[in-house]
Amino acid sequence: MEQTTATPIRHFLRLDDLSASELHYVLKRAAIIKDKFKRYIPYRPLHDRTLAMVFEKASTRTRVSFEAGMYQMGGVVIHLTTNDSQLGRSEPIEDTARVISRMVDLVMIRTFGQERIEQFSEYSRVPVINGLTNEFHPCQILADVFTYIEHRQSIQGKVVTWIGDANNMSYTWIQAAALLGFTFHFSAPPGYQLDPARLEGIPSHVYKSFDDPAQACEGADLVTTDVWTSMGYEEENEARRKAFANWCVDERLMSRAKPDALFMHCLPAHRGEEVSAGVIDGPQSVVWDEAENRLHAQKALMEFLLLGRLDGSSDD
Ligand code: CP
Ligand code: NVA
Repeated sequence: MEQTTATPIRHFLRLDDLSASELHYVLKRAAIIKDKFKRYIPYRPLHDRTLAMVFEKASTRTRVSFEAGMYQMGGVVIHLTTNDSQLGRSEPIEDTARVISRMVDLVMIRTFGQERIEQFSEYSRVPVINGLTNEFHPCQILADVFTYIEHRQSIQGKVVTWIGDANNMSYTWIQAAALLGFTFHFSAPPGYQLDPARLEGIPSHVYKSFDDPAQACEGADLVTTDVWTSMGYEEENEARRKAFANWCVDERLMSRAKPDALFMHCLPAHRGEEVSAGVIDGPQSVVWDEAENRLHAQKALMEFLLLGRLDGSSDD
């Protein structure tokens, strides 16, 4: 069913494509939608809607959460990869966008450069969701913030510590910190630091970089990390293994955080590299809730992009 609303199409290419108020709205809807799911109450507001998912990189959580989420909301899904579509045979992304978006209501893309998804969205007649690019992973941070709030009520004023490189996750966390009013501590070895050019417009009080990962964890409410090598950077694997050897979230690092600090990891994880088994499988870890919450947060996101605000509120 083609979108009939006269309101402009909203894309979700970066977390800050939503205002703080919209983000709060989506997080609230995620809790309501999760509650329905847990109580087996059918909720199918996307009946007859079609989501196309385009994967140019591997995925487990993103695929399953979008696919299950769309079916649960009454819609259907089409799954494409580079290799089984004409994208793998050099069809321009603009043409692909024009064609796919005439046939479906919503598109989710996981790809390499952010410019690819921006190009796609420019030619798309329907909303486009970023399912991970080299630059950002907004759906994951939506779920992570939702998970934090679920466990600790509010993230405002808290300290989130990132142990790992300046990657798609860390830059998206910084956008979340700026939008939702928390502080982001960052620690990575030399050579893997944040790029100031990518932080334009972010107030400097929002984030702080630390050379020492233990210091970055001091007083943290949440400690989070990610694989040392993100998808697409595999040739750097050996160099990164050496550089990040002291940037493993283990019991020693966690002991520097607040006693009730949570641990998160977007997964997949490598125990013994970026995180110890004791931490990821320990009592402070909420990684399985975090993974499950991809489902609920993205259902709320898809509902918002296709149906707008259901509570009559507006962004002011
Ligand atoms: N966290 C995440 O996006 O997982 P997948 O790569 O399995 O989708
Ligand atoms: N930073 C990781 C996240 C995987 C979900 C990557 O891009 O591979």
